[in-house]
Amino acid sequence: MSRKQLIDLTKRHLAHATAGTVDQAPEIFRVPASHYTDPERWQHEVDRIFKRLPLVLAFSAELRENHAYRALEVCGMPVLLVRDGHGEMRAFVNMCSHRGAQVVAEGTGQARRFMCPYHAWTYDSQGQLVAVLDADEFGELDRACLGLTPLPVNERAGMIFVVLSPGASFDFETSLCGYGEILEHLGLKDAHWVGRQSVEGPNWKIAYDGYLDFYHLPILHRKSFGPDIGNKAVYDAWGPHQRVGMPLPGLTGLANKPEEEWPTSVLLAGIWTLFPHISIATFDADGPFYMISQLFPGSAVDRSVTLQTFLSPQPPSAERKVKIQQQMEFLRHVVRDEDYATGLGIGRALATGAKSHVHFGRNEGGGQTFHSWVDALIDTETEDLLPLFSRTVGPKVR
Ligand code: FES
Ligand SMILES: [Fe+2]
Repeated sequence: MSRKQLIDLTKRHLAHATAGTVDQAPEIFRVPASHYTDPERWQHEVDRIFKRLPLVLAFSAELRENHAYRALEVCGMPVLLVRDGHGEMRAFVNMCSHRGAQVVAEGTGQARRFMCPYHAWTYDSQGQLVAVLDADEFGELDRACLGLTPLPVNERAGMIFVVLSPGASFDFETSLCGYGEILEHLGLKDAHWVGRQSVEGPNWKIAYDGYLDFYHLPILHRKSFGPDIGNKAVYDAWGPHQRVGMPLPGLTGLANKPEEEWPTSVLLAGIWTLFPHISIATFDADGPFYMISQLFPGSAVDRSVTLQTFLSPQPPSAERKVKIQQQMEFLRHVVRDEDYATGLGIGRALATGAKSHVHFGRNEGGGQTFHSWVDALIDTETEDLLPLFSRTVGPKVR
């Protein structure tokens, strides 16, 4: 695997670029409109997808030092991420063993000890309960059993994956379906923090559909990215995780160059998604920078929240930081005022019940794969999801 695999993928893109073709799924795929609007189904998605699968909740770049932490709420669960004194990443339910208060206020920081704001019970960065206020008066306790509740956590390719199932264990490698190794090439592990912003959006699947879709680019984004941007896509999948590439005519120039000289930037071009909620895109501001979008279901079926995190492979100079910040403004505008404004309108229209289905074309295989996996996970009641990841769930024809 590795560069060889990237070369093989690029050869496939090159063949499409040379022939002027795109990937085509076997059939047009129909998704019931109710899948986007039914509150019961949405709750199943939260419970069976967002609470059972690894989610990317943070990045190595923001929790680099020992005792660096981040507290956040995800799908209603308060989570504390902390790098302990030995450099190991840990995740906990951010909830005190005494009477359930949130121990750490939302945000980031650096701390060896976390003191609950209610009655000052105190935990260390390994989640152990290390101090109880007026312990003699409180009564005898087995402190060893009263630490913070751990969540499965894994740091891979510069991303911190967490499963929102308290106390469970999880086979992260199997769920990545071989994708982890290739993601390492993006270099997020050594990237530098630039900034973060959030955007409110429509139903999480309406929003996510847009990240897998190049078909809309020169149409919806004609005023921002311009009408000349390509709309052809090539999809490569590792289980539910997909890379969306563009078979651009410019690729044909590679055919005359030895493979060793193919630039890494070309090999890594496109959108790298991680099921169910991550999209990694590269942009340029005097050098590449990453925008990583983390989508989360919002407060109801018709709402989502997207966190956009910006990382730079090189330490950004003050001047470059300003340029990336300008791009951040532009990208927030594109996503909020073009993609999500359209998505919120889609949500309202689908809720009318006027149409029973929406359509994903043969050229929209990415969306087909995504919805196939959502369906498969909703239909899987057992706790053990690994058999699902061990085989490919292909687009279903309806
Ligand atoms: S709830 Fe945390 S110390 Fe009482
Ligand atoms: Fe878009």
